[in-house]
Amino acid sequence: MNTQKTSNNVTEEIKSKISMSDIVQKYVTWDNKKSNPSRGSYWACCPFHSEKTASFTVDNHKNTYHCFGCNAHGDAFKFLMDIENIDFPEALRRLADASGVNLPEKINFDPVEKQKREIIQCINEEAKKFFINELSKSENATVFDYLIKRGLAKDNIEQFEIGVTAKRGVLVRHLNSLGYNEKQIFDAGLSAKNDDGEYYERFINRITFPINDKNGRTIAFGGRDLTNKAPAKYLNSPETILFQKKNIVYNYHNAKQILANDSELIVCEGYFDCITLYVNGFHKSVATMGTSMSAAQIQLLWQLSNLPILCYDGDTAGVNAANRIIDIIFPILKPGYSMKFIFLPEGMDPDELLKKRGKNEMDKQITDAIPLIDLFWANFITSSNFGTPEERANIENQLNKMMDKIENAEVKKQYKLEIRDRLSAYWRSKSFESNRVFFKTTKKKPSAKLLQKFKTNSEEDGISWQNSIFILSLIRCPELVAEFMDEISLAELLDERVIALKENIFKFVIENKVKNDQSILLVNHLKDLGHAGLIETIERNTNEKMHANLLDDVNIEDAKVKFRNILNELEKHRLANDLEAAKLSYFENATDINESKIYELKRELDDFKKLESQVHKHEPHLEKKFDKWYEENKSRLERKD
Ligand code: UTP
Ligand code: MN
Repeated sequence: MNTQKTSNNVTEEIKSKISMSDIVQKYVTWDNKKSNPSRGSYWACCPFHSEKTASFTVDNHKNTYHCFGCNAHGDAFKFLMDIENIDFPEALRRLADASGVNLPEKINFDPVEKQKREIIQCINEEAKKFFINELSKSENATVFDYLIKRGLAKDNIEQFEIGVTAKRGVLVRHLNSLGYNEKQIFDAGLSAKNDDGEYYERFINRITFPINDKNGRTIAFGGRDLTNKAPAKYLNSPETILFQKKNIVYNYHNAKQILANDSELIVCEGYFDCITLYVNGFHKSVATMGTSMSAAQIQLLWQLSNLPILCYDGDTAGVNAANRIIDIIFPILKPGYSMKFIFLPEGMDPDELLKKRGKNEMDKQITDAIPLIDLFWANFITSSNFGTPEERANIENQLNKMMDKIENAEVKKQYKLEIRDRLSAYWRSKSFESNRVFFKTTKKKPSAKLLQKFKTNSEEDGISWQNSIFILSLIRCPELVAEFMDEISLAELLDERVIALKENIFKFVIENKVKNDQSILLVNHLKDLGHAGLIETIERNTNEKMHANLLDDVNIEDAKVKFRNILNELEKHRLANDLEAAKLSYFENATDINESKIYELKRELDDFKKLESQVHKHEPHLEKKFDKWYEENKSRLERKD
C-alpha cells in the first residue's frame, strides 16, 4: 500500500466531508453583508490579526481561506495548525474526528512519503544535525573558538544548536543518501539554482543558526559569513512553504517557555544579539532577523508578552525602523497590548552594549524604555515652530490622521484623549513664549510700591531664591545667555538691583562671547561695576537652597534642561507675586477691573502649575534619576540635618 497516497486520500476525503466555513466559524463572526453562502463565499474579521472590517475570506469550493490584510492563507489543515498552534498529525486527527473520516490504523510519516511541508521540515532538521556535527569536528576548532570569544559557553552553543557548513556539496550528498532528491532540497531552501538551472548548495563558509517554528521545529537557517568577504554578512534561507520571514521571530520557541510575568520580552535585530541577551540572563529574547518588522511578527510578540521591548541597533537603520513600527502597530493596537522602545547609544547593538557596558546598563535601558505613545508624540513634536494657528492646525491634523489608523475604538479614543491633553499643554507653553515676544512692551507690571509689600523676608536681602538661582546660572554658565536670549531678556525679575545685574551680564557675555570656562572674567567685570555685594548675597541665598545642585553641571545640554526649569520657576514666582499684588489692589479698591485681573492671574497661575505637573509627569526618566539620587544621598542629607 502506498502510504503517501493513503494520507493524501485521507486529507482530500476530510476536506470533501467538512466545509471550510464550518471549521472557521468557531473562531470568527461572519460579516453577513459581505458573505454569500449560496456561492460558498464567507467574509469575517481575520482571526490572525486584529481588524475592524472584514478582510478575511473563506471559499468553500476551493476549500481555502485568505486574508487580504495579513496574507494568511491555506487549507483546513493549515488553518487549524496555525490557529490552535498544533502540528499536522494533530490537525489531521481533529479534522478526521470532526468530519467522521476513519484514519488508517497507522499513518506512516516516513520522511520520503510525507506531504511536501513535512519533507521540507525533515530536510531542515537533518541539515541542522549535519551542521552541528560539523562544528564538533577538530578541523572546525577555530569556528568553535570564535563562538567562545563572542561570549558563548559550550552549553549555549548546544542549546541554540549552532553549527557550521561543510565544503560545497557535502551536505547535499548527505541529504541524497537519506533519500532526498535535488528538487526537495531546493524546495527546502538549502540549495539554489544558477542561471543554467543547475542546483548548488546555498550555505557555504557560514556559521548556522537554525530558525525554528512556533513548536521548535527547524524550518530555515540564518548563516553568518566566516570569510568577511561575502557580499552579505548574513544569509537566510529563502522563503519556502514553511518559512516566511515576516511570519517568524527567531527564538520564539525558547522565549515561550518563560512565563509572561517572569521577565520582559526583549526584541532585537540579530541572532547574536538574541543569544548574547540570553547568555546574560535576559532569557526572554527574540530577534526579527533584520530591521523590518511585520504586523504578523507583532502578533507573535504579543503572544509572548503584552509589552515587548524593542531594542534595535543604535544606528540610523535601527532608529528609522523603530519609528516605522508606529505605522505597522497602530492598525493592530488592542486594549492591554503595546510596545516599548530602547534607543541604544550610537553605533551599538545589544550584543556590544552587554560586552562593553554590562548587564546593569541593559537593565537600566529596560527600565528607561520609552512607551509607544511617547515615541509617537516625539515624532511629531519636534523643535519646529508652532507659533501660528495655521501651523498648529497642521500638526493637529497630522496627529489625528495617524491616530485614525488605530482601528480599535477604545485604544483610539484613549490615544486621542491623551494627545489632546498633551497638545493643549504644549500649545499653552508655546503661546506663552510667543505672546511674550509680541506683547513685550504692553505687559503691565505691578507698581514697585506694591511689590515691596510682598517681598518675603525669608529671602536674604529680599531677593528670592528664584531670582538668585537665575542670576547664578548665568554667571556659572555664561553660554546659556546665547542659548536663551529671548527668555533672558524677557524674564521678569522682581528687584531693580537684580534687573541691573542681569542687564550687565547679558551685555558683557554677548559682546565678549564669554565661554563657560571664562566665568571668572565675567564675575570680575561685574564686581568692577559695583555688583560685588549683590553677587555675594545671591550666592549665599542659593547655596542654602537645595536648588543649588541644579547648577553643578558643566555640560551645556544638561545645563539647558536645568535652566528651562529655572525659567519656569521664575515665571511661576512672578505670577504668584503679581497675583498677591492684584489681590491687594482689589481689596483696596474693589473695581470690576481689579476683580477680573485677580481672576485672570489666578487662572494663568493654575494653568501654569497644571502644565508643569504634566511636563513632569512625562519625564519618567528625570523622576527615576531623582529617586535614585535621593535614595543614594538620603542618609548623608539626614546626617546634615
Ligand atoms: P547586523 O548587520 O546588525 O549584524 O544584522 P549583527 O547581528 O550585529 O552581526 P554580528 O554581531 O557582526 O555577527 C542584524 C541581523 O539582520 C539580519 C540577520 O538576522 C542579522 O542577525 N541580516 C543582516 C540579514 O539577514 N542579512 C544581512 O546581510 C545582514
Ligand atoms: Mn553585532
